[in-house]
Amino acid sequence: MKPTVTLASTQTPDGATLTLHEHDGEFFLKVAGLQLMSTTAFSSEQQMAELSCVGLPTKPRILIGGLGFGFTLRRVLELTGPNAHVDVAELLPEIVDWNREFLKSINGTLVDDSRVKIEIRDVYEIIDRCGPAKYHTILLDVDNGPDPFVQLGNERLYKKSGLERIKGALHPKGRVVFWSAHQDKSFARLLEKYFTNVQCIGAKAYPKAKRFTHTLFVAERA
Ligand SMILES: C[S@@+](CC[C@H](N)C(=O)[O-])C[C@H]1O[C@@H](n2cnc3c(N)ncnc32)[C@H](O)[C@@H]1O
Repeated sequence: MKPTVTLASTQTPDGATLTLHEHDGEFFLKVAGLQLMSTTAFSSEQQMAELSCVGLPTKPRILIGGLGFGFTLRRVLELTGPNAHVDVAELLPEIVDWNREFLKSINGTLVDDSRVKIEIRDVYEIIDRCGPAKYHTILLDVDNGPDPFVQLGNERLYKKSGLERIKGALHPKGRVVFWSAHQDKSFARLLEKYFTNVQCIGAKAYPKAKRFTHTLFVAERA
């Protein structure tokens, strides 16, 4: 049997241990011993890119919250032209380092793509300070949210203060897509107070999965 190797570990701002592992060519991240994501389950991460890159101009400005294993970033780059500008906000510098060091064969080289600017920052701060109408689309896959949260600090993104700021950061007709581990009708209702064309779309973890285990919340600025 092939061994599971622990490649690296760090602490999250909440004090939990985040670890990167490899088993038989598959990489996965664990928080406090529980699997957060894996390089074999990325369909919903790519679907969120497909839902967000609709009707973009030729020079789109895009914000991705959460690099992870870079599957969302890969699909965004595939769907946009050479003039796209993609800001990626990543809270943990180690995630970016691990992409360069251990995950080159997955999506690690994309962090150095000329269209991509990686910022080691909380995506909330970027949204708060970017100025009005900067982004044509914003993709948020930073947590299991709306509830419960892996990082407690992420709750504010899903509340009034976060949604007002996201709306302000979006270009008119711009879209935000939230990845979520589950359905949440009250979050959908809250989104409707700030955005139009709110949709809750079921998403599969694997291409051949039978069940839609995740939810993608899509919303547009009027
Ligand atoms: C589930 S992963 C993202 C997966 C990614 N969509 C992909 O395709 O691989 C969540 C990422 O968000 C980062 N993160 C968590 N909270 C954040 C925040 N407030 N701002 C920026 N990044 C954050 C985590 O460190 C982690 O890398």
